[in-house]
Amino acid sequence: MTGFEHLDPQAPIGVFDSGVGGLTVVREIIRQIPNERLLYFGDTARVPYGTKSKETVLRYTRQIIRFLESQKVKAIVVACNTVSAVALEEIEKEVDVPIIGVVRPGVRAAAAATRNGRIGVIATKATIESNIYANYLKQIDPKLEVLGKACPLFVPLVENGLLEDPVTDEIAGRYLAELIDRDIDTLVLGCTHYPLIRSTIQRIVGEQVTLVNPAYETAIELKDLLDKYGIRKTTEPHLGGDMHRFYVSDDARGFEVFANSVLKYGILSAREVNIENY
Ligand code: DGL
Repeated sequence: MTGFEHLDPQAPIGVFDSGVGGLTVVREIIRQIPNERLLYFGDTARVPYGTKSKETVLRYTRQIIRFLESQKVKAIVVACNTVSAVALEEIEKEVDVPIIGVVRPGVRAAAAATRNGRIGVIATKATIESNIYANYLKQIDPKLEVLGKACPLFVPLVENGLLEDPVTDEIAGRYLAELIDRDIDTLVLGCTHYPLIRSTIQRIVGEQVTLVNPAYETAIELKDLLDKYGIRKTTEPHLGGDMHRFYVSDDARGFEVFANSVLKYGILSAREVNIENY
């Protein structure tokens, strides 16, 4: 008995984020468990979460969970690092389906990757101030040294398409200098957007630093979680544009443009939801 026998393996998995960034997690889930149907919600009306208080992020998160539950999802993936960092510990007690965030998978991968015990974490201000990566990493090994750095300009740079650009190089050079000086050998990309500028970050920190992408690790752990509860969808996917559903709280057209650049397959449309009604 797992308590989740009643869940329908054919039901979609709910994935949510503060906006478009969680599509990097969607991309990894589609790569690793392509049979699954996803139902994505991006809170494009209220993004960014990374500068907001814990109380506000908790309120937004509860509304999104209510929306996803109304859609009868069989599991929930918190794609947003900020929500995973500041709200998940409280929210997971309130949810009736399996729920997974991106922080713990990233932590496990970073602890396994480091050789010199010095791990850098880059993320939003809220994630860094929560200290969650350091706390979880030290639970695994108290000797680990964790160096956090908030990189608030990365999100707008990515959203403006400056993925390979001298401006992004300049900003990344400034943000990452102190981590390089402290001789980190592992760096966690602790924000949904950062995998999209992975090559810039790798070039600046050098090939000797292992980059950890929590989106990738989360997709692996999601697969294990679905197996554990016997709710993995085994039937073949139908490869139509309506296999996955996308919802946003504002600017569906802008979301579609970004989604198509990240996912490289045409999504038919994103629908708008008034999330304040939930
Ligand atoms: N999705 C957020 C995160 O991963 C980044 C954008 C925001 O600040 O809301 O932390």
